Amino acid sequence: MQIKEATFLTSSVDPKNCPAPNKPEYAFIGRSNVGKSSLLNMLCNRRKLARISGTPGKTRLINHFLIDNSWYMVDLPGYGYAKLSKTEREKFKKMIAEYLNERTNLANLFVLVDSRHAPVKSDLEFIQNIGSTGIPFSIVFTKTDKLKPAELEKNLAVYQERLYEDWEELPPIFLTSSTSKEGREEMLRYIENINKSLV
Ligand code: GTP
Ligand code: MG
Repeated sequence: MQIKEATFLTSSVDPKNCPAPNKPEYAFIGRSNVGKSSLLNMLCNRRKLARISGTPGKTRLINHFLIDNSWYMVDLPGYGYAKLSKTEREKFKKMIAEYLNERTNLANLFVLVDSRHAPVKSDLEFIQNIGSTGIPFSIVFTKTDKLKPAELEKNLAVYQERLYEDWEELPPIFLTSSTSKEGREEMLRYIENINKSLV
C-alpha cells in the first residue's frame, strides 16, 4: 500500500472532541522523544506533516490525520518521560487514558520503544496495561539506524525475553527507522490488511 493523501484534521485536548469515530484509527504511542511524530511522517512520506523536535514533549495534543479519505492516523503526546515535569506527565497520562477509553474505532495501537535501550519500566507497565484491555496493539522498535545490526539483534532479544516473562505470546513487532525508512513497507502492509479485514 502507498499513501496518496495525508491531511492534518484536528488537535484535541479532550478525546470527546476528536473526529467522529467512524473510520479505522491507528495511533502512535510511546515515551516522549521515541519518534512517534517522525514515524507518522515517514509512513506518509511527508517531512513536516506532524511536528518533530529533539526536545521531549513536542506533541502536546491528540492530533488526527486523515489518510486517503478512509482512515485516521493519530499522533499522541508521550508518556513517562523523566525530563517532563510531573504535572505535564500526569496531564498526558490522563489524556492518553481517556483517549484509549473513548476511541471505539481504534484498529491498532502502535507502541513505540527506542531500540537502543534496555526495557524501561514505563514502557513495560504501559504494555502490561494495554495487553489487559484487549486493545489490539503491536510493538515498534524505533531509531534502528542508530545501532549496528549485531547490537540491534541483541537488544531485540533482550526485550523479547523480558516480554516473555509476562506474556505467553508476543504481539507483532516492527523494526523501524524514520531516516532509513526501514519498516515502512511492513507497517503499511499490516495496516492495509487490517483495513481490508474491517470492510
Ligand atoms: P514527543 O512528541 O515529544 O512525544 O516526541 P516524539 O515521540 O513524537 O518524537 P519525534 O518524532 O519528535 O522525534 C524525537 C527526536 O528523535 C527528533 O530529533 C527526531 O529527529 C529523532 N528521531 C526520530 N525518529 C528517528 C529515527 O528513526 N532515526 C533517527 N536517527 N532519529 C530519529
Ligand atoms: Mg511527537
